[in-house]
Amino acid sequence: MKKALLLALALATAGSASAAGKLEIFSWWSGDEGPALDALVKLYNQKYPGVKVDNATVSGGAGTNAKAVLKTRMLGGTPPDSFQVHAGQELIGTWVVANRMEDLSSLFKSEGWAKVVPADVIKLISSKGGIWSVPVDIHRSNVMWYNPATLKKYGVTAPKTWPEFLSTCTALKAKGMQAPLVVGESWTQQHLWENVMVGTLGAQGWENLWNGKLKFTDPRVVGAFTTFGKVMDCANKDASGLSWQQASDRITDGTSAFNVMGDWAAGYFTTTKKLAPGTGFGWTTAPGTSKVFVMLADSFGLPKGAKNRAETLNWLKVLGSKQGQDTFNPLKGSIAVRTDSDLSKYSVYSKSAATDWKHSKIVGSMYHGAVAPESFTSAFGALIDQFVASKDSKGATAAAQQLADKAGIGK
Ligand code: GAL
Repeated sequence: MKKALLLALALATAGSASAAGKLEIFSWWSGDEGPALDALVKLYNQKYPGVKVDNATVSGGAGTNAKAVLKTRMLGGTPPDSFQVHAGQELIGTWVVANRMEDLSSLFKSEGWAKVVPADVIKLISSKGGIWSVPVDIHRSNVMWYNPATLKKYGVTAPKTWPEFLSTCTALKAKGMQAPLVVGESWTQQHLWENVMVGTLGAQGWENLWNGKLKFTDPRVVGAFTTFGKVMDCANKDASGLSWQQASDRITDGTSAFNVMGDWAAGYFTTTKKLAPGTGFGWTTAPGTSKVFVMLADSFGLPKGAKNRAETLNWLKVLGSKQGQDTFNPLKGSIAVRTDSDLSKYSVYSKSAATDWKHSKIVGSMYHGAVAPESFTSAFGALIDQFVASKDSKGATAAAQQLADKAGIGK
């Protein structure tokens, strides 16, 4: 009897979230992209065993489908309790300006996160005096993946600049490789585009595109578009039908030599395909970007009107904790946001990313929500699709500048 009473008391004082309840989290991490999130949910359930977690996912790389579903739910007044959103403009320019998120400043304070989350990352998730989400990872966009055996077979090395890439491409074609570069569906081409821009215009040039100091119509940008067009001439013709995972498969099976993709590809290679970094797959920085780290961060927030607020706050606590981050990131291919992360848990690839994160010039990804508002990014896709077909650099850059003006970039 006494025991039962004590148990009841313990449950009551532990708070409603740990006794029972529900939590719905929303993301695009399904299928091959699921294991890291699954591990995090498992950890949450170890801490809060009574909570039933509804792990809602809408598949589609980079959130192409999930973001549309999320919009419908947010505008329809049925937000998930917490959802995946990129740190930066995707969070601030979409959901914070629309006044849909709760300020998490007090959570950051009570959890002591200001001491372990780099100030620049906090800046990305802050505006109007509030902090609006909890970042769980740092991904790198500017990585070029290859298969060491393929490069050996063809007698080439990974090119260090985009002009060098083009000559390597010609050499590989001459040796019978049809598509030295593999790309996938539309968003992966925009991902490639940003890497050609950073590698051609430099980190400062890239930043200037987003602060308005460099116009898209500038001859340097027009030239960089032309380079992008030539790079696309090295790519497979069936791109639109390939997911990023299928594109990655063409590296491991030796069909193509190179793929420029974020380091979720490292998670796919190691966690899903069980390949060893360095032998099963190789990597280097995207051409021209060896001193740069193009970053993006996945984060989760607390939308206003979330049904299970207490459970969500606990979810966010797990997400921002050292244990949470060191459970999630080694499987995901990303590194922890926290500076006290235990690197012994990470792959050789991730260790190299962690070193570069400390020593490189950091810039934000456009496609993955860091530097440009959604209004620009979503319209830009059609522009790139058209450019890939027409290769009209002047026309594309003029249209891009119009989009930038409309989205208020540099204002
Ligand atoms: C990115 C996201 C990554 C990964 C990738 C591919 O936008 O930040 O975590 O999921 O898409 O889907």
